[in-house]
Amino acid sequence: MDGNGRWAEARRRPRSFGHRAGVETVRRIVEDAGDLGLRCLTLYSFSTENWTRPKAEIAALMALMKEYIEGDLARLVREGVRIRIIGTRQGLRPDVLRLIELAEARSAHNSKLQLNIAFNYGGRDEILRAMKRAAASGADIAAMSEADFAQHLDTHGQPDPDLVIRTSGEQRISNYLLWQAAYAEFVFTETLWPDFNKSDLIEALQAFATRTRRFGAAPSSEVA
Ligand code: IPE
Ligand code: MG
Repeated sequence: MDGNGRWAEARRRPRSFGHRAGVETVRRIVEDAGDLGLRCLTLYSFSTENWTRPKAEIAALMALMKEYIEGDLARLVREGVRIRIIGTRQGLRPDVLRLIELAEARSAHNSKLQLNIAFNYGGRDEILRAMKRAAASGADIAAMSEADFAQHLDTHGQPDPDLVIRTSGEQRISNYLLWQAAYAEFVFTETLWPDFNKSDLIEALQAFATRTRRFGAAPSSEVA
């Protein structure tokens, strides 16, 4: 979800105004994802690198996360959304932590849409934490398969993403789902996140539908 700051700057408003608009997009897109029959949606909302931003902006982002859970959790639970916050819990304020845990616990019985919020998330950090967890579990590291290792990632039990969409014209992975996105298809759109809407999502899904996924195999004409 990129482009909140530029969206606000274009309106001569503070960056936090853009983040607030970005939350409105989250509300719409989570609903749209459900309507379109998506089973799993992961939103990158705060990275382990975002701590380098100005204090006031970080505070605004933390406040928005709280507001989102406080304001939307009951409705999300009613609508069948199961929430998981992926990322490290280290460095998060106790009040934010409490809400994250509440969101996960309250929605744990749901299964219509798996909503992951990548918050205080970095792909390298996740892999490192998974490695430490695997070691601490007493598992036989030497015999460990990729599937075994994935059980220690924050996304354990979930399928790898089929499609990664990045808004606002940037064409980078920015430490996102490094392990899980190994064979994901990518769609990059110029649209800034606050402007991203259902037709942009449908357009991305249509682009995805035209892709031939081979997962490293030879094109099928050569196979035949
Ligand atoms: C994305 O918007 C939201 C977060 C990273 C929290 P940005 O804040 O990165 O917006 P730009 O890139 O400055 O436009
Ligand atoms: Mg950005």
